[in-house]
Amino acid sequence: MPKSLLRIADLGAGDVARLVERAESFKADPRQQRDLLAGESVVLYFAKPSTRTRISFETAVHRLGGIPIGVGPGDLQMGRGETVEDTARVISRFARVFVARTFLDQELERFDRAASIPVVNALTDGHHPCQAIADLLTLKQRFGKLQGLTLAYVGAGNNVTHSLMEAAALAGVHVRVGTPASLPPDPQVVARARELAAVHGVTVELFHDAASAVRGADAVYTDTWLSMGDPDVERAMRVVALAPFQVNEALMAHAAGHAVFLHCLPAHRGEEVTDAVADGATSLIFDQAENRLHTSMAILEAVVRGELRGG
Ligand code: CP
Ligand code: NVA
Repeated sequence: MPKSLLRIADLGAGDVARLVERAESFKADPRQQRDLLAGESVVLYFAKPSTRTRISFETAVHRLGGIPIGVGPGDLQMGRGETVEDTARVISRFARVFVARTFLDQELERFDRAASIPVVNALTDGHHPCQAIADLLTLKQRFGKLQGLTLAYVGAGNNVTHSLMEAAALAGVHVRVGTPASLPPDPQVVARARELAAVHGVTVELFHDAASAVRGADAVYTDTWLSMGDPDVERAMRVVALAPFQVNEALMAHAAGHAVFLHCLPAHRGEEVTDAVADGATSLIFDQAENRLHTSMAILEAVVRGELRGG
């Protein structure tokens, strides 16, 4: 049974369904569980910038009665050579949960192995599990169900793509991923998502053409072309390779007539998405952003209570 939330594939379908349900419940009644974290602190460690994740978790900790302690790499002795493991052991003596946004997944895994408290992945180079749970909540609230929907992701294969593939597979949502051949999702993550999808009667398909990827989809999702862990020197190459994957009105016309547009944000308007789509009637991007708060509450509740069961 996972004590932590490092990646979606560590969870079972029941965990994912329960997190979405609890997030929905917190959205309807944010004042429940006001003492869950009474007298406790939650450390929020951010080695990369964040608007939604940082502020939603801080707010969630307050709403659950705890004290959030936000720190960056320059604040901790880890930045001056204290080991990840010693830092994890020490923070475990003070805090109830460690929420972290870092670069390498392996570093967060090391922290988790040494920590006796739950660790929540607030985005690594490889995964963004909290975002994917919020995305499922957004889809469920729009369509009234998840099972059997088709979600298309177009753009660069990245952390958001990985968590979406895994979360959709566990929720019984078909996934169609369109990327340039040079920027695919990690093949190991694709293989794992396909195993999970097969168990839940859905598929994970890869395309190198945006129109084919979005054909008939219920939702079209994109993300920034250059992620926070990606080298800046790749920007020019990526802009050229990804231009045909821009989500604009012409691309949305290939999706189902009722299709919605999703983006984890921050958006780079004019690159991966046009203003017309981001601000259009089909866009759910600000519901997604709001849902990060309700999802953060559900995730904190699940790890504090030790409710995650795994696959
Ligand atoms: N979507 C998301 O994680 O946004 P932030 O980088 O602002 O946290
Ligand atoms: N893929 C993006 C997501 C930001 C929320 C990044 O890692 O920068």
